[in-house]
Amino acid sequence: MPSPTGPVLVVDFGAQYAQLIARRVREAQVYSEVVPHTASVDEILAKNPSAIILSGGPSSVYEEGAPSMDAALVKAGVPVFGICYGFQLLARALGGDVEATGAREYGRTQVQVAGDGGTLHHELPGSHPTWMSHGDSVTKAPEGYTVTATSEGAPVAGFENLEARIAGVQYHPEVHHSPYGQEVLRRFLHDVAGIRPQWTTSSIVEEQVARIREQVGDGRAICGLSGGVDSAVAAALVQRAIGDRLTCVFVDHGLLRAGERGQVERDYVAATGVKLVTVDARERFLDALAGVTDPETKRKIIGREFIRVFEQAERDLKAEGDYKFLVQGTLYPDVVESGGGEGTANIKSHHNVGGLPDDLQFELVEPLRLLFKDEVRRVGTELGLPEVIVQRQPFPGPGLGIRIIGEVNASRLETLRAADAIAREELTAAGLDGEIWQCPVVLLADVRSVGVQGDGRTYGHPIVLRPVSSEDAMTADWTRLPYEVLERISTRITNEVAEVNRVVLDVTSKPPGTIEWE
Ligand code: XMP
Repeated sequence: MPSPTGPVLVVDFGAQYAQLIARRVREAQVYSEVVPHTASVDEILAKNPSAIILSGGPSSVYEEGAPSMDAALVKAGVPVFGICYGFQLLARALGGDVEATGAREYGRTQVQVAGDGGTLHHELPGSHPTWMSHGDSVTKAPEGYTVTATSEGAPVAGFENLEARIAGVQYHPEVHHSPYGQEVLRRFLHDVAGIRPQWTTSSIVEEQVARIREQVGDGRAICGLSGGVDSAVAAALVQRAIGDRLTCVFVDHGLLRAGERGQVERDYVAATGVKLVTVDARERFLDALAGVTDPETKRKIIGREFIRVFEQAERDLKAEGDYKFLVQGTLYPDVVESGGGEGTANIKSHHNVGGLPDDLQFELVEPLRLLFKDEVRRVGTELGLPEVIVQRQPFPGPGLGIRIIGEVNASRLETLRAADAIAREELTAAGLDGEIWQCPVVLLADVRSVGVQGDGRTYGHPIVLRPVSSEDAMTADWTRLPYEVLERISTRITNEVAEVNRVVLDVTSKPPGTIEWE
């Protein structure tokens, strides 16, 4: 049989874990993609997968409406790994038994290594914690399969057949509550399926550069830089591929934080040598925002102005030469979420301000389409981008415009910029950047309160600190920052920022609060 070189396909049975599994596979240096369980066996095999992973899903294969699987999928000679629900589907398809034993296991669960543990579990601690979530259990492994682990509620918590190159586990190896999970997954990929670990950062760069060269040929491309990680890395990859036939456009809308324009104009250009056009549109944005307090209206105005400025920059450039390509920093999770896969050329709001209009006449170049955020960061580092850009925390496209509660004007922006710079400086100095997802600093411009400073009474504005911890910004918790750090930030802001006489801490999770205040 020819050795397949395609991706490891994670068949998504409706678990929130499918993307996480794909990430873990990639961490084992094997390329992986997610496919919906509604894909047919032919469609899946057409991708020439080097292995198939069946993800978790509902807690029972007997549940009404539980997604099913065509048994042909696991009999096609391709290596298969079943996880949780996928493990039960696999067991059934191969002739094992799955029963509602009534012994449910949810959360942290000890598994016992059976016999010598086989390939999956050998030399792991005889009893070790895993993360489980199942109602039914596999009670008998399929004929010819070795049981490699058991748990109280799952008589068969892991099985394998090296000849068939098929294995599975009842628990979730992809979550970090299963401390040996990544090792088990790695063993499946490398030792059971026999896949060589070749998905490395340098291989990603090489492959993408080659693809870009093929797509763009001797054409020219434009990339809008937002200052964020994605557009910065996308542009750097394209620049590596086509050199000065790429021009980057950076719109300074005046809603940036202290130092951000410099990071792009100086540090980014120094690191990449990219050709950069900065459009100074600060006045234009301020004029358009004058008198506006409603957050949605602000967002719309910022989005609209951004598009106008970008279109003008694009016309100016096109007058100089033929720019046929537009670089976008679309990531893999965007592609999967938008129902994606091939050919979805929807222009993503990667300038983070509402997206570019689709009547812009460009062919898209999306060199990050296959990558997760952490991979993008590693690629950025590999390309020599400065850490301040590569490790940047998320920052909304409408910028400080949505962190001033009330009308946006130049002096309020200056106040917020100063307070934000202090907070960021102190968080970085305290080594907390890795612990927080992001920390919006918000100016309550429409609120005043009485304070006392020196001998005088003040009537100033509060600044809100909103440090949050999160995996994906969908949900978040407020970060328990050390009191000393909060104290330093508060003291410095009230001392150094004239208009501010109070600093308050937001201790709301998301939900119910969002991360940004607006
Ligand atoms: P919320 O406030 O909805 O924010 O909890 C979730 C995440 O999204 C970011 N955010 C934006 N990012 N353009 C962006 O690129 C936007 O318009 C925007 N609004 C919010 C926010 O910073 C957080 O990370």
